[in-house]
Amino acid sequence: MTSFTGTSEEPKDRKSVVRRTSRTRILPLLPPSSMVKTGRCGLPFPSVALELRTRWWIGPVEVPSRLVLAPMAGVSVQAFRRQGRRFGAGLVCSEMVSCAGIQHGNERTLGYLLISADEHPLAVQIFGSEPQVMADAARMVEAAGADIVDVNFGCPVRKVTKTGAGATMLEDPDRACAVIEAVASAVSVPVTVKMRRGLEDGSRACLELGPRLVEAGAAALTLHPRSARQMYTGRADHALTAELVERVSVPVIASGDITTRERALDVLSASGCAAVMVGRAAQGNPWVLAEIMGESETAQPSREEVAGELLFFMGETVRELGEHRATGFLKKFYGWYLGGGRFPKPFKQELVQLRTVGEVEQRLLAATPGAAEIAERLRDETAGLDELMLPLPISAFGGG
Ligand SMILES: Cc1cc2nc3c(=O)[nH]c(=O)nc-3n(C[C@H](O)[C@H](O)[C@H](O)COP(=O)(O)O)c2cc1C
Repeated sequence: MTSFTGTSEEPKDRKSVVRRTSRTRILPLLPPSSMVKTGRCGLPFPSVALELRTRWWIGPVEVPSRLVLAPMAGVSVQAFRRQGRRFGAGLVCSEMVSCAGIQHGNERTLGYLLISADEHPLAVQIFGSEPQVMADAARMVEAAGADIVDVNFGCPVRKVTKTGAGATMLEDPDRACAVIEAVASAVSVPVTVKMRRGLEDGSRACLELGPRLVEAGAAALTLHPRSARQMYTGRADHALTAELVERVSVPVIASGDITTRERALDVLSASGCAAVMVGRAAQGNPWVLAEIMGESETAQPSREEVAGELLFFMGETVRELGEHRATGFLKKFYGWYLGGGRFPKPFKQELVQLRTVGEVEQRLLAATPGAAEIAERLRDETAGLDELMLPLPISAFGGG
């Protein structure tokens, strides 16, 4: 069984492999006073509260907290990943990168992946179904500086599953193992796998496949315990996560419906997983990461803070995607940042209708003048970092 203490033991060769930059924060331990709480499931939290801020390892890669930011196609741009690190995520992951693009050059793409020095540790996620093509992609990902190669066996989107990739792999265990074996032999960084529970509702395919993937070379597993058919309906069944933890000797990351600190601690203590992953709750809401980490009482920032983060995020996204693509891409983020009662509804609607990112910036600054200083500070803090462009296409067919 994987336990916190089990994954916290420092491997001997760790120092030679961990890539750490001056901007990688190692979070301090919680003071003892913040460790007295009881979870909904009735279990006491003390050791778990401490564990959210303790480091752990995926193979030789050190992860400084037990909070992981989920890969999300169409969301996990570099600005999102860097923001996740700033707000407490110990590990961030790119959205899916297609391997088909390498071989045929015919994948419809949304652009290329940009990796920056302050993202580490960073997992880059690849998907595909051909072992050798996946191995080639993994080599490129490693060469570009990824600390971990993550393989997507969970994407339920038809355009991906019909090619035999994504969640289809859950029901094709021999091929899935061949992919992981090929990828793990191709790179020296750890290889991890992100899965759903299976294709159909009630499936337990992940429990059979998980141990085989570990045997094939997977250094950690992430489980989003919904079926592919479920997409995002129903609830993530973390009782299944607990069963997977029992069956494998590597860290398991729990993904699905982690939206509050209470839920994070509950899932950590009840399942024995090594870390929790947060996805949709962090869209336009990095403050929830700080709240989960116990760094702030609530996830309620001031309007200035919201607008300042959004302005910085917009600037970074334009830099990464270019003005044209960023204009459309950002529209969903306006709703995510400004919704939930943070700003009046008509204001949000007005921003979505503006034609250019520049117009949105002006309107935001007019409404919240204090946001300029916050955005400026964030720009200063992150200026001048080295960046690498990974020439692998980001797939237009995202989802997981
Ligand atoms: C818009 C969106 C895009 C996603 N893209 C990916 C992806 O590219 N790769 C992946 O493994 N999972 C992907 N996922 C799944 C998430 O990583 C996560 O497992 C899922 O959303 C459940 O976690 P949550 O309840 O915290 O959102 C995506 C989810 C969403 C909502």
